[in-house]
Amino acid sequence: MPYTQHTSGRPTWLEIDLDAVAHNFQRARAAVAPATGIYPVVKGDGYGLGVLPIARRLLAAGANGLCVATVEEASELRKEGITHPLILLSGLSAGVEESVAALGLQPFVFDPAQLAPLSQAARSRPLTLFLKVYTGMGRLGLLPEQLPEALRLLRTLPGIRLAGLVSHLACADQPEHPDNQRQIDTLRSLLTQYGLSQGQTSLANSGAILARPDSHFSWVRPGILLYGASPFFPANQAQQIGLQPVVSWYTRIVQLRSLPAGTAIGYGQTFVTQHPSLIAILPVGYADGYNRLLGNRAQVLLHGCRVPVIGRVSMDSIAIDVTGLPAVETGTLVTLLGRDGNEAITLEEMAAWRQTIPYEVITNLGKRVAKYPISAQSL
Ligand SMILES: Cc1ncc(COP(=O)(O)O)c(C=O)c1O
Repeated sequence: MPYTQHTSGRPTWLEIDLDAVAHNFQRARAAVAPATGIYPVVKGDGYGLGVLPIARRLLAAGANGLCVATVEEASELRKEGITHPLILLSGLSAGVEESVAALGLQPFVFDPAQLAPLSQAARSRPLTLFLKVYTGMGRLGLLPEQLPEALRLLRTLPGIRLAGLVSHLACADQPEHPDNQRQIDTLRSLLTQYGLSQGQTSLANSGAILARPDSHFSWVRPGILLYGASPFFPANQAQQIGLQPVVSWYTRIVQLRSLPAGTAIGYGQTFVTQHPSLIAILPVGYADGYNRLLGNRAQVLLHGCRVPVIGRVSMDSIAIDVTGLPAVETGTLVTLLGRDGNEAITLEEMAAWRQTIPYEVITNLGKRVAKYPISAQSL
């Protein structure tokens, strides 16, 4: 049952359980050595769940700093008074260097050509940065053969200081994948070759934090585990690895109709009632992030029972078949994601229906869906 009743306005809302975020942070804390730094990844508006309350709770729980993707995301955190270290994972585009320096960000540098403009921007305020090296992800990163040039520039250009080497695993969701070992070994040998072993090295995301202690180095970057989804999807569910669900998604019935057999429901008339049916309309659609792939496939929870979504998902509404359920009326609460009684729809289940990963389910939640952070502590 939701904490927030949401009795006025469009009744489609999310509850973000900050106590569960803190619990999941402690799960990461327990998986790494006490001296290992933890810099949670709160990019994409806290993976779509609303960055500020989550960021504050993570810092209160002991996070050393935070990772963001863009200068704008960092700026929002600074404006709200967050003074902790902020690491810029990917957003170092030409022209943002002055803002990076002014906001005191620590960027991941992935091209030696980025160093001179950073040094220029660091005239008045020295800047600490990481060199992101390519070890197998095939995405952003310096090729190992570019490292000598980057290190030479770092020695000669004023104002910029190297904190350490960083890289990213391509297959952390499959801990036994042989490429994990290869990437760890590549990073280790680069550290040794260039005498950088004492630096602030980082490689591990959620999957590697939980399953590859050999990848932890100096500091780690948990993302999806904090938001209550398994980094090993589809192999297991968050609950099986000690994570608590963070997000619940609720709505209320806005129309209820008894319809005869043979009534077509929704665009394309893809569902036709086979018998006299009680059909409820819910105010949620693909503009809210309730993806079209959920039509004729997903279920929702009502009075603790699973109920099918019928017909196509529209931009603003869906239909569910509540035939035979007692005590259903306009205004009845429906759970799209989360627990109702003994039943729960998990992020992993919704991701499977949507043929995607939990990351996309939460980062695609629509802007117009109200978000309510909840906590047993005062907010
Ligand atoms: C560079 C980097 N590190 C860490 C993470 C966190 O990954 P995860 O959510 O799998 O923990 C991300 C997320 O995509 C990332 O881009």
